[in-house]
Amino acid sequence: MKTLVTFFSVEYQNTRKVAQALANKLNADIFEIIPKEPYTKADINWRNPISRCNREFFGKKEVPVQNKVENMDEYDTIYVGFPIWYGCAPLVVNCFLKDYDLKGKKIYIFATSGGSGIGKTAEKLKPYIEGAEIVDARMLQTEKDVEDYIK
Ligand SMILES: Cc1cc2nc3c(=O)[nH]c(=O)nc-3n(C[C@H](O)[C@H](O)[C@H](O)COP(=O)(O)O)c2cc1C
Repeated sequence: MKTLVTFFSVEYQNTRKVAQALANKLNADIFEIIPKEPYTKADINWRNPISRCNREFFGKKEVPVQNKVENMDEYDTIYVGFPIWYGCAPLVVNCFLKDYDLKGKKIYIFATSGGSGIGKTAEKLKPYIEGAEIVDARMLQTEKDVEDYIK
């Protein structure tokens, strides 16, 4: 069985760099979670009360994904990486996860942030990964963090 590193990244590509480093180290496949409607810079300006990200978060909106992992069955271990938004996973990550039958799979969560810790992020994802086991959930802010982690 194989390992898949999935990630969502938009603001500074922080999570993308970490995900790529992780996939390299683990010799894993990699998959980018892309929203059906990709985010622009204006969309993610949380300082603007009516920006898209604020409307979605406070309106508890669905944020559908444009692409799909066609061979999810082949993976028994899935890494899921994202930037912390409003203290937890961005809504598009919930939508991504709930599209799959992840029963029996091992899930490793990693995140980047502007300072927040991992908090209750893993617990809040549980409803979207029914039957899967969250083995670990941690902040991995840089490629150096990935090196230390894999050691
Ligand atoms: C809509 C939005 C909400 C955010 N909320 C938080 C937060 O609650 N705590 C925090 O430390 N950083 C927050 N950030 C900062 C990002 O987590 C941080 O810049 C991250 O590393 C960006 O990753 P990326 O470059 O892969 O998108 C937020 C950023 C955005 C755009």
